[in-house]
Amino acid sequence: MAVKIAIYPGSFDPITYGHIDIIKRASQLFDQVIVAVARNISKTPMFDESERMEMVREAVTEMPTVAVDSFQGLLVDYAREKKAQAVIRGLRAVTDFEFELQMALVNRKLDEHLITVFLMPHEKYSYLNSSIVKELIKFNGDVSSFVPPHVQEKLLMKMRRK
Ligand code: PNS
Repeated sequence: MAVKIAIYPGSFDPITYGHIDIIKRASQLFDQVIVAVARNISKTPMFDESERMEMVREAVTEMPTVAVDSFQGLLVDYAREKKAQAVIRGLRAVTDFEFELQMALVNRKLDEHLITVFLMPHEKYSYLNSSIVKELIKFNGDVSSFVPPHVQEKLLMKMRRK
C-alpha cells in the first residue's frame, strides 16, 4: 500500500502548542508528516527561516514520523515534489474558515489531487496564535502555557537583543 504523506505548511513564527497539537493529530492519520516552514512569507517574520525550522525541529524530536523542511513558491508544487497526498491546516474557530476555505479551493484548483484536511486543535488552544505570543512577549507577558520552553527562551533572547 502506498505511504500516505501529509504536508503541514505554515509560517511557524514561532511554533506554538496549538501547532504541536495539530502535528500530533496529523501523525495519527498519516504515515509521514512533513512540517513545511514557508521560506518567504508576506508578513515580516520575527525569526528567520533557520530559527523557525530549528524551533520546529526541537518540538518534534519525540515524533519519529514527523520531518521538518522548508519550502518556497507554490505549496502545490512542493506537495507534488514530496509526493504528498494531503495538506494539513488547523481550524481554531469560525474566523479561520473563510481564508482557509479560499486557500484550500485555490490549491484544489491548482491540483485536484491534493486534498486539504482540516484538523481542530484542543479547544484550550482555540484562541492561540503566533502573533498573540509575539505581542505578549513584547510586553513581558507570560507565554509559558502557549509555547514550549525552548521557544520561550528564543523569544526572550530576541527581546533582549532589541
Ligand atoms: O502559517 P500561515 O502564515 O497561515 O501559513 C500560510 C502558508 C505559508 C501555508 C500559505 O501562505 C502558503 O501556502 N503559501 C505558499 C504560496 C501558495 O501556494 N499560495 C497559494 C495558496 S493561497
